[in-house]
Amino acid sequence: MKKVSLILASLFTAIYLQADMTEIKQEGVKYIKMLGGELKQNLMAKMKLDPSGESALGFCIGAADSITAKVNEKLPPYASVRRTALKYRNENNKPDAKDIEVMKTYIEKIQNKTFSPKDIVIIQNKNEYRVYKPLLIKGICLKCHGENIDEKLKTTITKAYPNDLAVGFKEGDFRGVIVSEIKK
Ligand code: HEC
Repeated sequence: MKKVSLILASLFTAIYLQADMTEIKQEGVKYIKMLGGELKQNLMAKMKLDPSGESALGFCIGAADSITAKVNEKLPPYASVRRTALKYRNENNKPDAKDIEVMKTYIEKIQNKTFSPKDIVIIQNKNEYRVYKPLLIKGICLKCHGENIDEKLKTTITKAYPNDLAVGFKEGDFRGVIVSEIKK
């Protein structure tokens, strides 16, 4: 009897943890979409108005950090959201060791053809969680992250980010992640 209740107890704990993770995932994805949506909406609008990419670039350089800060102000105090990449452009988006590990697993999955863009990774350290969503390079991204960047845009990018690593990408390449951190 004791054994049975022990098994039951551990089963319930497992189910409880599972439910907990689903909640964390949902919450993290919500914050990821808030930041991703805000940036994408602005980028697309600027690209439509000025297809050369100049005003969109000016916008990204000038406003990405403040938009990120503004979205974070809307989140509960135990949560945050940011973007990062292995080949990063903005020093403020520099990855830490955990970010690097997760991004490397995404790249491995792409190489092994086991990757899906919906592949959300959750990592846990006690009561701290990170929810990661991968970002791939699309056609529109090439203007500022591709192999043949227009000279004028390139000059503006290099001036703003002398140590820029975020160039030379092809469509479908892994670009980086949006990550939400939640402490509960
Ligand atoms: C008009 C130019 C432009 C376009 C188009 C563009 N980006 Fe960027 N991107 C930038 C600039 C400038 C930064 C650095 C400022 C920032 O956003 O923090 C940046 C930063 C990023 C970052 C943050 C990590 C880092 O390197 O600092 C990610 C992720 C990113 N871009 C992904 C994309 C993706 C995916 C697309 C296509 C959907 C895209 N970008 C299209 C200019 C652009």
